[in-house]
Amino acid sequence: MQDAAIAAQNGSMRGRVTMYTANALKIGLFGANCSSARTATLVPERWLATWTDCLKLARLADEAGIDFLLPIGRWKGYGGESDFHGTTLETVTWACGLLAATQRITVFGTVHAPLFHPLIAAKEMVTADHIGNGRFGLNLVAGWNEGEFAMFGVAQRDHEERYEFAQEWIDVIKRAWSGDEFDFDGRYFKLAGVRAKPRPVGGTRPIIMNAGQSGTGQAFAMRNCDAFFTSTSGARLAAAGTSQAVDEEQVFNRILKQVNDIKGEGRKHGRDIEVYTQGQVICRPTQREAEEYQRHANVDHADWGAIDQMLALKHITPRNTAADEFKAKRTMMASSGIGGYPFVGTPDKVAAEFALLGRAGFRGLAVSFVNYLNDAPYFCDEVLPRLARMGLRARN
Ligand SMILES: Cc1cc2nc3c(=O)[nH]c(=O)nc-3n(C[C@H](O)[C@H](O)[C@H](O)COP(=O)(O)O)c2cc1C
Repeated sequence: MQDAAIAAQNGSMRGRVTMYTANALKIGLFGANCSSARTATLVPERWLATWTDCLKLARLADEAGIDFLLPIGRWKGYGGESDFHGTTLETVTWACGLLAATQRITVFGTVHAPLFHPLIAAKEMVTADHIGNGRFGLNLVAGWNEGEFAMFGVAQRDHEERYEFAQEWIDVIKRAWSGDEFDFDGRYFKLAGVRAKPRPVGGTRPIIMNAGQSGTGQAFAMRNCDAFFTSTSGARLAAAGTSQAVDEEQVFNRILKQVNDIKGEGRKHGRDIEVYTQGQVICRPTQREAEEYQRHANVDHADWGAIDQMLALKHITPRNTAADEFKAKRTMMASSGIGGYPFVGTPDKVAAEFALLGRAGFRGLAVSFVNYLNDAPYFCDEVLPRLARMGLRARN
């Protein structure tokens, strides 16, 4: 149960950004609203993202002291034999249900700015925030996936303009949340006499995150967001891909520089931005079991049709990429849980990897499992107490 001191913070901006916990390293679950979540696999135990399972998972995570749930805003599957991400629950309505059923966990909604009128989105999110008593968060997506937009009959703007649009969109949202009556005369929105009540809980606003990977996307996050998500699988995977012994110091230094660069950019904007990353956890009693399962689920039973489709969206195809390079990229994509940091091993090893990212300056990690309900209990029982002993998390 939430203790009184934490409950008293509900709705305060500081409480929102800390997700109402004293955990130095925040941990969230990523992608549970999507079929197969972050593993493009054909194993029969793959995640189906049913409501019943999401609800069980949210209650388990809430009870275990997990800090947040981060869904993926996905409208169209990637195909392949499993139609990877073909079955998804819409994220804001998903968040509403889960917030009503939990006590302390922060639940994000992932919203594609070009697909929702900002006043509708602002109202939906305020509703979620009231259901959760200040525990709703926004992951803002400017858009990138062409096919997904075509399905709505919405043309994607060019990359720079996507973020100009997103800027107006978030400006409207923040004005609406401020409770003042206002007019808005922008390039994309011309709004007269806007009134939007109630305000978010506590008269503040939900925590906002963004995960743009381009310079423009990152600059947008620095201006507008409290938290920035970046991918950091490269440093670990590049080391794993070589036949030489892994130089742990080199891996750590690469990650440290990445986080410091982002924080430095934030400071240029006068912001103390919180940096997060994401990865896949495969935790087993022995290292060998964990690595065997990773190979079994991620590679031997990969949904290659879906992986190829995701690579094609990044303009990587056998037609424009040399055969060896294409094969390496494909394997990397599959084995990493579509581009996540690999937390693969014993509880000691997984905890050590978390600690390494914490030491590098990450505020938190959003993780996925092949099947959350099968795999999260072992993680919560074995890894979370180790992190508490390391001083990275409060004891639950
Ligand atoms: C942790 C994380 C979460 C993301 N969530 C989503 C999502 O739910 N839906 C989506 O379409 N894109 C998602 N993205 C993609 C980013 O929002 C962004 O569009 C992409 O990284 C391209 O960056 P750019 O817009 O700066 O080019 C996510 C990326 C990361 C790293």
